[in-house]
Amino acid sequence: MTPPFPPGFVWGVATSAYQIEGAAGVDGRAPSIWDTFSHTPGAIADGCHGDIACDHYHRWPQDLDIVASLGVQAYRFSVSWPRVRPDGAGAWNAAGMDFYERLVDGALHRGVTPYLTLNHWDLPQALQDEGGWGARDTVHRFVEYAQHVNRRLGDRVRSITTHNEPWVMAVLGHQTGVFAPGLKNRALAMQVSHHLLLSHGLALQALRADGAQAELGIVLNLSPFHPATDSQADRDKARLEDGQLRRWYLDPIYHGKYPDDVLQALGPDAPLVQRGDMADIAQPIDFLGVNYYTRSVVSAAEPWDAKDAGHETTDMGWEIYPRGLTELLVNLGRDYPVKSLIVTENGGAFADQVVHGRVHDEDRARYLAQHVAAVSDAIAQGAPVTGYMVWSLLDNFEWAFGYGKRFGIVHVDYATQRRTLKDSALWFRDFLARQKAARP
Ligand code: FCB
Repeated sequence: MTPPFPPGFVWGVATSAYQIEGAAGVDGRAPSIWDTFSHTPGAIADGCHGDIACDHYHRWPQDLDIVASLGVQAYRFSVSWPRVRPDGAGAWNAAGMDFYERLVDGALHRGVTPYLTLNHWDLPQALQDEGGWGARDTVHRFVEYAQHVNRRLGDRVRSITTHNEPWVMAVLGHQTGVFAPGLKNRALAMQVSHHLLLSHGLALQALRADGAQAELGIVLNLSPFHPATDSQADRDKARLEDGQLRRWYLDPIYHGKYPDDVLQALGPDAPLVQRGDMADIAQPIDFLGVNYYTRSVVSAAEPWDAKDAGHETTDMGWEIYPRGLTELLVNLGRDYPVKSLIVTENGGAFADQVVHGRVHDEDRARYLAQHVAAVSDAIAQGAPVTGYMVWSLLDNFEWAFGYGKRFGIVHVDYATQRRTLKDSALWFRDFLARQKAARP
């Protein structure tokens, strides 16, 4: 049995705009890079796109009712940049912003605190046409966007996250090309990572100068790295990959510099950094958001596969490894001067079946229970963890995997848009009720 969490610990559920909203062309919203990418033949496993998704843009009251019924304190969502500023640089779209006003007020009205993310990957296509995150100008457009959203919503959201998972945008979007905008150029990917970090730091400065009330931070996808064997080659590779995923983002934020070993490995692909950039990036953050799904096992010989190695995996083929979350959180608290860690995403895709109106997803409920226990262990070992959010509230558009991978604790029937609470949602609700009852 997991012991009670500290008073004030925040429980939540998470979503992102492009994955659930739909209403792609409604009320003045312009395309983002994910609209363009998902409409590119061959880009998405099931050939689908987010034009309708969960139709959350129209069904948000029902969805917020579900959030409130779970007994969570927090709802993590993202704002679609091309909904509020369609071409990324020109006029603001009042109708788009009004949607988020309704959403934020709707959450508060139901006793749920909104946690806002500015950039969950859906860059306005118009900015991509000008070079996207590879262009330094985009940094300044992002700062304007951050200021505008903060002016409208900053008095009512508890927290503002600049970026969700910059590594994914940089590397999967610009180096391997499996995510939008689908480019394959390592030097560009590294420049993008630098611009994302710079825009994070400059946005924080601008928001603080504007008197921001919300807590400000960033969300990173992180995992511990384990060499597959004790060989020097595996250990060296694991160390470098940890550098590329974890230290590349955390060293600039906390220490104002990129890690030397990663810079050296990049050689001519290292980003162009202008004077003052590193100091601009290294702004104090109120919280660090951690998205955790699995650990990384690194082999210099061939890619390590959890299933081949006989380990239990989710429907994504990702190893189920709760202890990795404890290790990750404890190490973050040890390696960096973190004030507060929030697990901003954790969850699993499983091949759910609806049977007589129920979804018996014991595998997901077990996954969540094990990871919640792992967070409790991390706190017991001194990690400053202040919140935990399940990915995801709803089954949704899982990027390049389309609708085939279901991460929701609430099932969505895409033909009818009917929502059904899975057993994992009922487990989470009961768990939260027990936590509440156990509090002195
Ligand atoms: C994370 C993303 C989130 C979701 C989960 C499964 O990388 O932030 O949108 O796709 O993975």
